[in-house]
Amino acid sequence: MKIHTEPDAAPPLGSAAEYVAQSTEPVEVIDVYSPAGAALYHWLTRTDNSEVRELVSALRHAPGEILELACGSGRITLPLLMHGRRVTALDSSATMLEILKNRVQKTVPIKAGALTAIRGNMADFCFGKTFDAILLGTSSVSLLSPNDRTSMFRSVRSHLADHGRFLMTSLEFTDEALYSGPKDEIIDRLDGPERGEVLTLFEHLDNEARRRHVSIYCQSPNRRPRIFTTVTEIISLDTLRKEIKEFGMRVHSERGISTGREGRLDVLLECEKVQ
Ligand SMILES: C[S@@+](CC[C@H](N)C(=O)[O-])C[C@H]1O[C@@H](n2cnc3c(N)ncnc32)[C@H](O)[C@@H]1O
Repeated sequence: MKIHTEPDAAPPLGSAAEYVAQSTEPVEVIDVYSPAGAALYHWLTRTDNSEVRELVSALRHAPGEILELACGSGRITLPLLMHGRRVTALDSSATMLEILKNRVQKTVPIKAGALTAIRGNMADFCFGKTFDAILLGTSSVSLLSPNDRTSMFRSVRSHLADHGRFLMTSLEFTDEALYSGPKDEIIDRLDGPERGEVLTLFEHLDNEARRRHVSIYCQSPNRRPRIFTTVTEIISLDTLRKEIKEFGMRVHSERGISTGREGRLDVLLECEKVQ
């Protein structure tokens, strides 16, 4: 089967690749965080409130301005604004930031003045000021390579106020899920944003490379099939704890947030600067 691949898109693996191979039409392979992927990502997460209650509550300990890294279309940003917080929201995708700003204008226009939306790289940013709280939710730390994590931690440390908090979530897999559970699964099948469109979500675990591949196969009556892909790192909590320490911070508290899936726990790490 002919495949058209975007430069940044990862090749689909496992049963996602089989779907592509079985298609009678050419399939376009698109990065989930590309402009076309951002709209789909927003559609998929529009009613997802995982982490929101826990993060809003934990951030009460750091009452000043929040720097939110990898804010996306505002799944966490909007609730923070609604709770009266000032947020500088950073993302590398201009499309995600556009969706975020439109949502704020549409749903909470009175809070628009409390939001600063910035396009940038969470692995290397410079605002020339510090924040009482820095947030990296949705396990988005897993989008960074080890080198990029190093420079993200360095940037975070230099932007954290002396008594500020850095909150980060990370998806932790049990050994059983990683080494004896299924490596390749269809995790959901649901309607897409367009009429008659069907989305199939796949997860493929590569435990040797410690990578998780997520693919969304999109079948629509009106257009050629597309598959949206992303690859994340599987990072152990021990590795993150070590890196946090290496960059002059310490873990103040840790708590698990249920993901609703066996063998996977979302862990919220609340960190502070070591003076
Ligand atoms: C898993 S989404 C999370 C978005 C949002 N926090 C949420 O809960 O819906 C990851 C986000 O990270 C952004 N992203 C990926 N790499 C990035 C980078 N190096 N710097 C900044 N943002 C990045 C993507 O554009 C995407 O919006």
